[in-house]
Amino acid sequence: MKPSEIAALLRPRRPILRASTRRLARCRTIADLRVAARRRLPRPVFDYVDGGAEDEITLKRNTGAFDDLVLMPRVLRDVDDVDLSTTILGSRSPLPFALAPTGFTRMTHYEGELAVARAAGRAGIPYTLSTMGTRSIERVASVATAPLWFQLYVWRDRGLAKELIERARAAGYDALLLTVDVPVPGSRERDLRNGLTIPPSLGLRTFFEGAKHPHWWWHFLTGDAVSFESVSDRAAKPSGVMAFLAEQFDPSVTWDDLAGMIEAWGGPFVLKGIIDPDDARRAADAGVTGIVVSNHGGRQLDRGPAAIDALPAIVEAVGGELEVLFDSGLRRGRDIVTALALGASACMVGRAYLYGLGTAGEAGVTKAIDLLAAELRRAMQLVGARTVAELEPSIVTRR
Ligand SMILES: Cc1cc2nc3c(=O)[nH]c(=O)nc-3n(C[C@H](O)[C@H](O)[C@H](O)COP(=O)(O)O)c2cc1C
Repeated sequence: MKPSEIAALLRPRRPILRASTRRLARCRTIADLRVAARRRLPRPVFDYVDGGAEDEITLKRNTGAFDDLVLMPRVLRDVDDVDLSTTILGSRSPLPFALAPTGFTRMTHYEGELAVARAAGRAGIPYTLSTMGTRSIERVASVATAPLWFQLYVWRDRGLAKELIERARAAGYDALLLTVDVPVPGSRERDLRNGLTIPPSLGLRTFFEGAKHPHWWWHFLTGDAVSFESVSDRAAKPSGVMAFLAEQFDPSVTWDDLAGMIEAWGGPFVLKGIIDPDDARRAADAGVTGIVVSNHGGRQLDRGPAAIDALPAIVEAVGGELEVLFDSGLRRGRDIVTALALGASACMVGRAYLYGLGTAGEAGVTKAIDLLAAELRRAMQLVGARTVAELEPSIVTRR
């Protein structure tokens, strides 16, 4: 080649000065964000996000089950203009997925829930604040610019649930999600092995871990203390994460308790954590607005079914009567396409955005949302669907 031809091939790339931007630029999938977060976070923190219950059979099933499903490509349908928007719990959303509630988010990144709420707001999609959130109901509401949902756990102190419902309503939250799959916390054995406490405590082992992740520790030690801000006056001193949760949650809640909570809330009311079609039926009879077909991302009953395998029977049982949302195991836009085609009205993602948050805070959450949205668009084009409503069960078969 002549020198001029070689010169034409040279495409010098502008150096990226910001380390977090560089880190994100290398991530092309949610799996890449997971690897980056693993490098960035102290081991007990990464394991808290990444892990599941006991032998993690259900955790693996959640993602593995998608591999047993086949999406049918369909052609020549003019998919130039694809509309990813849909209506979720009464509000129009530019994307058919929301961000799921995750407790203790400021452990993953010092800006925690505020970073996630801002990223959700920029994308215009709903974000769900957890009862176990590390920023308060009011503080998160003050930065939100898209629909905001509040996730409720019923604590032994029943007066607290009532108080939280009232505060969420006063702060303008758009929907209440009652999580029903945690009568007791699942046994997260990675957390037990790592000796994770809530709030994190400083021991010799954590000190050495800290030396490997100075950024994380700097922000952790110089920021305000990590606590469950919405319930901080009721929260305990540092204790083992499992023991703490077991002390707080009320395992005596039944279907009979729902009517009072639905009435107290007075808006869209969703049960999160339904896997059994009979439970879905009871939820419909109880008059809720919707359910989330979810096994808590494999963090509760181990050996339970993959959530995506449970979805079709639930849609068949109650699909026309209430909104059926879906989460657990979504790592790709094509997974979201699959769940929507099988009858989910919308999806929620948990770890996918937490990996982004752990990698680069708010910009990392935005990256996770953008990656999923771009994959979703491409997958819809390849199955020949121009709208979410055009995703029908016939495009999914079992391998
Ligand atoms: C670190 C972590 C914390 C969670 N905390 C809560 C919580 O406080 N309340 C809740 O209802 N679900 C919680 N979940 C479950 C998520 O809302 C969601 O159901 C799950 O993450 C979906 O699975 P995926 O992570 O495979 O997307 C948590 C999940 C993770 C990974």
